[in-house]
Amino acid sequence: MPSRVAVFSTKPHDERFLAEANIHHGHQLRFFEARLTPDTAVLASDCDVVCPFVNDDVGSATIDALAASGVRVLALRSAGYNHVDLDAAAHHGITVVRVPEYSPHAVAEHCVGLILSLNRKIHRAYNRVRESNFALAGLLGFDMHGKTVGVIGTGKIGTHVIEIMTGFGVTVIAADPYPNPQCLALGATYHSVDDLVAAADIVTLHCPLTTETHHLVDRRRLELMQDGVMLINTSRGGLVDTGAVIEALKSGKLGYLGLDVYEEEAGLFFEDLSEQVLQDDVFSRLLTFPNVLITGHQGFFTEEALAAIATTTLQSITEINAGHVPLTIVQS
Ligand code: NAI
Repeated sequence: MPSRVAVFSTKPHDERFLAEANIHHGHQLRFFEARLTPDTAVLASDCDVVCPFVNDDVGSATIDALAASGVRVLALRSAGYNHVDLDAAAHHGITVVRVPEYSPHAVAEHCVGLILSLNRKIHRAYNRVRESNFALAGLLGFDMHGKTVGVIGTGKIGTHVIEIMTGFGVTVIAADPYPNPQCLALGATYHSVDDLVAAADIVTLHCPLTTETHHLVDRRRLELMQDGVMLINTSRGGLVDTGAVIEALKSGKLGYLGLDVYEEEAGLFFEDLSEQVLQDDVFSRLLTFPNVLITGHQGFFTEEALAAIATTTLQSITEINAGHVPLTIVQS
């Protein structure tokens, strides 16, 4: 039994990969460019399934509106579900599924890309060379070999980061309430988050955003870190207190910052705002630092990951319609 699926925050690549995967499912897909919000929820009024992306507003007001129009499944095309009011979904009996794993390689490899680019200033060198400026001043990097890399969160993505990192000859230290045997086998040792941030030359975040991990990197933890430390966040913006990070960049405590996510990225990332004046002064300040490299939440953005997201999302809907409980369930 096919579903009518309202796909929000649709970009051309979503349409392409979902349409390709849908050949095997036959759901009726309705694509909307609009972000899902309480106001746009009405677009899903003749659909039984809604398919939101990471910066859609899936709070209680939106869920109330969706429930009133008969939506019974939220099929998130993301791993993270911190943007969904699960209590509101449960209240209305709406099933929530996600894509727990699509390509952990995609995010792990992007994370390593940020580390190498920041270290060797590849983003700055690219611009210089295009202007025939071949001076090396300001481009000095450091050997990765022999450094200590701290990985916070050793689930699927963190594990792949550790796998890649071991090839550089670094010491890997990790923090996770559930130590991962695979990471222990790779030589990682587990520590408290405080001990990890105090010892690492590079700190990279791979845990989910929860009430417990909100502002995991705050002023206190930044003070514990080594002078000139590199901080990478490819997980969720809310893990980092951006104001504290800006202070740490200004003081030199933080030597490098690589971000693929930002606390206030909703309404900013995934859009072409190049003709507009940015209204977010905190984000604008971040852009002024020479030792900050920001990408707009593209860690997931590989061919393999998009194909897997589309396949898993549609498969979950098909399984629910067949009366099964898919493995991708967050809550039913
Ligand atoms: P996962 O669920 O496999 O692993 C998360 C790990 O974090 C688990 O081992 C968990 O025990 C650990 N953790 C939870 N609380 C912690 C804490 N307080 N301190 C230390 N560790 C803690 O998740 P996965 O697939 O590795 O993804 C990690 C995060 O990456 C996601 O939650 C998501 O926010 C982000 N992500 C970012 C993408 C991007 O495009 N930039 C794409 C996909 C995911």
